[in-house]
Amino acid sequence: MRFFLLFVFTFSFSPLTWAQYFDLDFNPSLVIKYRQDFMTSVKGHNNAIKAIVNEHVPFDNHLDLHIVSLERQFEQILSLFPVGSDFGKTNAKITIWEKPEQFIQAVEKAQQALQTFKKVAARGNKDEMRKAYKTFGTNSCGNCHKSFKKKQN
Ligand code: HEC
Repeated sequence: MRFFLLFVFTFSFSPLTWAQYFDLDFNPSLVIKYRQDFMTSVKGHNNAIKAIVNEHVPFDNHLDLHIVSLERQFEQILSLFPVGSDFGKTNAKITIWEKPEQFIQAVEKAQQALQTFKKVAARGNKDEMRKAYKTFGTNSCGNCHKSFKKKQN
């Protein structure tokens, strides 16, 4: 109950209105499956960016598409973790719901890291992009998974 109240308290002051998810009638295992599929598509865009900046593929004209897709996806990360989707076949750590303010910070950090990478990508220099891409990975996926995702077997 304490955590639930903290959660409500935190999100009622968040610009992102999670409150709508509290009343949501949902099947937890299907929401978990959906968010894992969603994350798999995040991985798809991320790997695509990697292949482009490493010049493994001739799809420079797709770079913007993948960056914009990640922007849209990062905006939705919070909504993927409604209260009540913390148990079952999930690798999400309970910390997400116990310390929601920290989880919000991880999302914001990821969004900032993406903006930093986007600016470098706009300049078009591949050496700079490769370096910036690594920093992006550490400060987005890496940073959040370290605290909020269980290691998969
Ligand atoms: C703010 C937190 C956060 C950010 C940022 C984030 N993830 Fe995740 N990710 C998670 C959590 C939590 C899970 C575990 C979800 C579950 O099992 O319910 C996860 C799961 C995954 C999975 C496993 C999906 C599955 O099928 O089980 C992949 C792949 C993944 N993330 C890739 C990425 C990549 C690539 C990035 C960066 C571009 C990223 N994530 C950014 C929190 C995050």
